[in-house]
Amino acid sequence: MSIATHLLVGKKILLGISGGIAAYKCAELTRRLKDQGADVRVVMTKSAQEFITPLTMQAVSGHMVATSLLDPQAQAGMGHIELSKWADMILLAPATANLIARLHSGFADELLTTLCLASTAPIVIAPAMNMNMYLAAATQYNLEILEKRHFLIWGPGEGIQACGDIGPGRMLDTDDLVQRVVAFFTPQESTLQGINITITAGPTQEALDPVRYISNHSSGKMGFALASVAAQWGANVTLISGPTPLPTPPKVRREKIISAQQMLTASLNTLGPCDIFIGCAAVADYRAKDICQQKIKKTSQDEELTLCLVKNPDIIASVAKHENRPYCVGFAAETQSLEQYAKAKLKSKNLDLIAANDVAKEGQGFNSDQNALTVFSSRQKFDIKLADKQEVARQLLNIIAEQYKKTLTREQKK
Ligand code: C5P
Repeated sequence: MSIATHLLVGKKILLGISGGIAAYKCAELTRRLKDQGADVRVVMTKSAQEFITPLTMQAVSGHMVATSLLDPQAQAGMGHIELSKWADMILLAPATANLIARLHSGFADELLTTLCLASTAPIVIAPAMNMNMYLAAATQYNLEILEKRHFLIWGPGEGIQACGDIGPGRMLDTDDLVQRVVAFFTPQESTLQGINITITAGPTQEALDPVRYISNHSSGKMGFALASVAAQWGANVTLISGPTPLPTPPKVRREKIISAQQMLTASLNTLGPCDIFIGCAAVADYRAKDICQQKIKKTSQDEELTLCLVKNPDIIASVAKHENRPYCVGFAAETQSLEQYAKAKLKSKNLDLIAANDVAKEGQGFNSDQNALTVFSSRQKFDIKLADKQEVARQLLNIIAEQYKKTLTREQKK
C-alpha cells in the first residue's frame, strides 16, 4: 500500500531505466514517487523497452517517455540538454552492468548516458544484475570509480535472483528506494549551512624508526563520507586525516597528518570557531617512547625485540574538555557488549553522541564500503541500518544536526 505524504513536492526526478528484469518494478516506483509529490519523467534504453513498455511508463508518469537521442519529435519537446538541466536527481533504476560500464567510460551515443554526462544533478545508481556480474572485477572497479566521482550507489540488495542464484545483485525494494529519495531531499541542510565542522579520519601512523611504524587498517572511508555529505549540505568542513589514498571530497579543507600528536595539534587549532567535532579517526593507542634515529637492526643473537610504547593523547577527550567545547561526536568500534562499552565511552570522554559499530560483523566497519551504526546520546538511541557509507553518513549527519540544534539557544537558532 502506498501512502501519499507529499515529502517530495516540487522535486523533479528523472528515472532512467535500463534493460534488467527489475525494470518491471519501475511502474510502481514511479507511482510511489508521484504519491510523494515528485514530478517524474522517464528515460528508457532500448533494452529496457523489452522488459516494460514506454506506454506503461507514460501512463504512470503522465509524461511522454524519452527513448532516443535522435528523435526530432522528442527533441522538439524537451531536448536532452534541457532534460538533464530539468532534473533535481537522476535515478538509474535498474542500473545494469552494461549501463554502469558505459557511465564509467563516459559514453554519449544514446540518450540515457548522454543525459548523465550532461547533468550536474546528483546521479543515483541502483544496481540490478546477476550476482556474478555484480561481483565481477570489472563491475566492482566501475562502481568504485563512479563512487569516487560522487555518483550515489544505492544497493544492491541480497536474496534470490530472477535466475535462481542467491546473492547480491537485486535492485533495492521500491520502499527502500523511495525512502532514500525522501531522505536525500530532507536533510537538515539548513541546520548545517555555514556551521564549522571538524572531522578526524583514517588511521594514524606512529614511527618506530625512519622506515617502520605502528598503524591499523582504518581506510578513512566513513570520515571522508561524513566530510563529503556535510560539505554538500553547506557546512565549512575541515577534515584532519591520517595517511589514506582517498581523494579529498569537493569543498572540504583537508589537513594531512601522520601521527596522533599531529592530529591532536591540528584538532585543537580548529577549536575557536568549531561548532561540531566528529572523531572518526582510528587513532593508534600507543606510540614509541623514543623514535630511533637510525633503522633498528636485527642482530643474530636476539630472538626477541622489546619496544617501549607510551600512551597517545585521547584527541576527542581533549577537545571535549575544552572551555567553549564544540558539540562532540565520537565513534566506538566494538566486538562485544556494544551498548555497554559505547555508553561508557560517551561518559568517560564527555561526548554528546557516540556512534557504535559492531566490527565483528562481516561487511561493515573497518575497511568496508558499508556500515551500520547504533547512535547513543545520554538519553536516546538511534539505529542506522546497514547501507553504503555515504548513506550512513547522511543519516548520521541528520541525527547530529537534529541533536545539535537542540543545544542551541533560541537566539542562536535564529
Ligand atoms: O577509546 P576508543 O579508541 O575506543 O575511542 C574511540 C573514539 O575516540 C573515536 O571517536 C576516536 O576517534 C576517538 N579517539 C581519539 N583519540 C584517541 C583514541 C580515540 O580521539 N587517542
